[in-house]
Amino acid sequence: MTPRIIPVDLFDLVVFGATGDLAQRKLLPALFHRDLQGQLPPGARIIGSSRRAMSDAEFRKFAQAAIEAHVPEADRPADCMARFLERLSYVAAEASQETGWLDLEKALKDRDRVRVFYLAVGPDLFGPICDRLGSHNLITERTRVVIEKPLGKSGASARALNESIGKVFAEPQIYRIDHYLGKETVQNLMALRFANALFEPVWNSGHIDHVQITVAETLGVEGRAGYYDTAGALRDMVQNHMLQLLCLVAMEPPTSTAADALRDEKLKVLKALKPITGDAVANLSVRGQYRAGAGEGGAVKGYLDELGDSTSKTETFVALKAEIANWRWSNVPFYLRTGKRLPSRESEIIVTFKPIPHSVFEPSAGPIAPNRLVIRLQPDEGVKLWLMIKDPGPGGMRLSHVPLDMSFADAFGVRNPDAYERLLMDVVRGSQTLFMRRDEVEAAWAWIDPILEAWSGSSELPKPYTSGTWGPSAAVALIERDGRTWYEDEA
Ligand code: BG6
Repeated sequence: MTPRIIPVDLFDLVVFGATGDLAQRKLLPALFHRDLQGQLPPGARIIGSSRRAMSDAEFRKFAQAAIEAHVPEADRPADCMARFLERLSYVAAEASQETGWLDLEKALKDRDRVRVFYLAVGPDLFGPICDRLGSHNLITERTRVVIEKPLGKSGASARALNESIGKVFAEPQIYRIDHYLGKETVQNLMALRFANALFEPVWNSGHIDHVQITVAETLGVEGRAGYYDTAGALRDMVQNHMLQLLCLVAMEPPTSTAADALRDEKLKVLKALKPITGDAVANLSVRGQYRAGAGEGGAVKGYLDELGDSTSKTETFVALKAEIANWRWSNVPFYLRTGKRLPSRESEIIVTFKPIPHSVFEPSAGPIAPNRLVIRLQPDEGVKLWLMIKDPGPGGMRLSHVPLDMSFADAFGVRNPDAYERLLMDVVRGSQTLFMRRDEVEAAWAWIDPILEAWSGSSELPKPYTSGTWGPSAAVALIERDGRTWYEDEA
């Protein structure tokens, strides 16, 4: 199947932090891929900016190296590389000083095009950059600003950050990226729920027993220990990505996919999350920290060794039992689990339906397992629906639990674009549907804050787990106390 490509409007995209990790690993490769697909109009420009002095030619060389490192050779035809590099230029500018800003003004002459400022820098620079964009009159009617987490370390700091950006930009101009919302299968979750009549009637506490959301990674903290140690798994993964997934599973059908229609529904879910506070934190959450063990085909160090600090209490694993206090989800737990250095990289949402009320079969037919819908985010994106069927052949009725299995790669056979490709083009198109609104971010923090507070006030340390295992045994106990179990190998 050939993907449909709709070219976007003419734009100037300024990437602050253009020599950083995000630009190299994600932004430049994503823009290159879109150019390769013919989505960038002739004349669209990408202007790199950072403190470092660099000529246009040097920035192009830098960008070429980043693309060569992150885009497979077969996707890099020479003519496309030349065309893409031609779009690039560079302006050195200091976020909190005047240096370079007049050059940026000169580089941005055309005020009619879409203008995007991507702040691929630390959050401490969001405010200073926005202030200068304002004072240099660089914000046009068609300007958008893109920011990414960490959007604060708590509700209070998120509010302060939102204030500093909100002084200069109006909410419809602010694009807060959560790259999970740009993933193909996350969008498919919406297709599955709202483009099929089958699921909605059973999508409630009358028919669903519980939901599990797992985002497991095999990687450790790699070169990001400095950042990670100030965040931990709850801030790094749950406050944003996992709560967004939970919202998409749990929200009411929006009236349309218009940005606010969808975001209003997600916000209602966040506000309906039952607060986990005080003593309940110890019962409903587990935090872990990896020790030395197995990973990436060999022996790997523990977190504290990687960090070089034996006193860190930062969690690299978290499991939670969340509940949504509304009519649809009453008594349907959402178990969330994420961690680094787990046995495999897999992210999935598993919806387990209630058991059948009565079996008509003889015990010899075997046990009847509940239906299960598995939405696999990565790798091997796809959807599986586990059903009971009869074993083939004579010899009486024997039942088996078997999946209807749809792998998107097999079904469509196309390259799955990286989330940033879709999200960057959505910014240019002016679509905020897949971006978080301010009140969503703050509502998510309101649920996370008391958990963080209880952890930091507790003398307990995160529970150790060996790298290459599914986290501390307390995470198993968290779900088994309810008579349920995490699906691991056979989901
Ligand atoms: C990022 C986190 O937001 O998401 C990382 O900061 C994490 O710690 C990453 O590894 C996971 O993203 P993906 O797309 O690889 O699942």
